[in-house]
Amino acid sequence: MNIVKAIYPGSFDPLTNGHLDLIARAAKIFDHLVVAILRNSSKNPLFTVEERVAMLSEGTAEFGNDVSVSTFDGLLVDYAREQRAHAVVRGIRAISDYEYEFQMALMNRRLSPDVETIFLMPDAKYSFVSSRLVKEVFRLGGSVDGLVPKFVIERMKDKNRAMIESQR
Ligand code: PNS
Repeated sequence: MNIVKAIYPGSFDPLTNGHLDLIARAAKIFDHLVVAILRNSSKNPLFTVEERVAMLSEGTAEFGNDVSVSTFDGLLVDYAREQRAHAVVRGIRAISDYEYEFQMALMNRRLSPDVETIFLMPDAKYSFVSSRLVKEVFRLGGSVDGLVPKFVIERMKDKNRAMIESQR
């Protein structure tokens, strides 16, 4: 049987409800979706890659074998080839996302013409939600209820507590 497989790559630091909305949409289209966390990001992450794998595994458990969680290093197109994936899925929340995503998609196409990038839109209620803003709002004491899963809020609280402890 020919399984149509896609990769949804990203930092997922942390997983948001916007990511989960996109995963649900992509899981309906593809036979198998690999949610792939970039390992060698230059950004200074809040959560370790292992913590993010755990959060994504919990968040995608309801999809069973249709969705798996993994990590990758280096070029996305090399990982896509290794995984025998037919497509890369990326979310477009607003026109402002488009420019960067368009550049990445065309660069990836140049590197690997066989891999198609598919853009999906999350529900409009998540169009302003980003991991970066979630972290900032949480750090400054604002509510992120409804923007990330409840268990992610708990892990963010745990991180905060650990940070406060280490500063004592
Ligand atoms: O969630 P993010 O940070 O927007 O995800 C960006 C990601 C991981 C998709 C992108 O940085 C990526 O694919 N990095 C892997 C390295 C690579 O292939 N770079 C060339 C992209 S054109």
